[in-house]
Amino acid sequence: MDKYAVIGNPIEHSKSPEIHRAFAEQTGEPVAYGRILGSLDDFVGDVRRFLADGGQGLNVTVPFKEQAWRLADELSPKAHTAGAVNTLIRLDKNRLRGDNTDGVGLVRDLTVNQGFRLQGKRILVLGAGGAVRGVIRPLLEQQPKRVIIANRTASKAYSLANGVAVYGQVAGCGLEELEGMQFELIINGTAAGLEGKVPSIPDSVLAKGGWCYDMLYSNNPTPFQAWGYEHQAARSLDGLGMLVEQAAESFRLWRDILPETSPVIAMLRG
Ligand code: ATR
Repeated sequence: MDKYAVIGNPIEHSKSPEIHRAFAEQTGEPVAYGRILGSLDDFVGDVRRFLADGGQGLNVTVPFKEQAWRLADELSPKAHTAGAVNTLIRLDKNRLRGDNTDGVGLVRDLTVNQGFRLQGKRILVLGAGGAVRGVIRPLLEQQPKRVIIANRTASKAYSLANGVAVYGQVAGCGLEELEGMQFELIINGTAAGLEGKVPSIPDSVLAKGGWCYDMLYSNNPTPFQAWGYEHQAARSLDGLGMLVEQAAESFRLWRDILPETSPVIAMLRG
């Protein structure tokens, strides 16, 4: 068996082990996948110990994605732009490649699983932290008409938009600047939902027939999903599909096989 794991802190609620065990079973790949509670002051030591134990690859989650970016000996272009790594791939005895599959996961869930065409659309992305940085380049590569990154702290949205402007039509703004704008898709990448809140955005910001997508997921509708229903979104989705898709892309990077995701999403929906 080849050893893989997810490392984060906290880690007990991670669904990644369940997802990757399902992928291993489905593909017949000899993959053993565990979970590691990373120590907040010795992430690098935890990774080194895992490698010394024969580990072949890691998924990295909160709060270690930036540290994994610094640790990687080489970076994929996506990870380079994201400034964050969620997938570490062992190259040889001591060398690691860092990649970021969050954006691919979001784009595949929207386009393949849900049938939403991103090309030519006006898209609003809420938030400008690590979660948004991880997905913005793959989103822009789908050639939407325009992406607006809106953040409570406007300066963070400006600088994030400036950094990715070479990949497409993108601008940053503060939440209060959204008055009068409309979008066919709103993606929530803020952490507001973790406190049961929704970023304060104008009621009129969702175009008629528009969709809402929350990068968070939960067994019950998330606060932003509820906002979508209340504002007549044609669809209002949580991020469970994105979670499974980013895992599938990590599995592909490690094993060179892309697992089928729909049975795994259905299993997790219970
Ligand atoms: P993550 O890695 O999950 O993105 P982060 O880097 O701390 O975490 O970013 C959290 C994001 O959620 C930020 O965009 C933050 O806005 P600020 O930059 O203004 O702090 C946003 N956020 C958190 N709570 C929010 C709230 N109640 N309303 C609006 N935005 C919120």
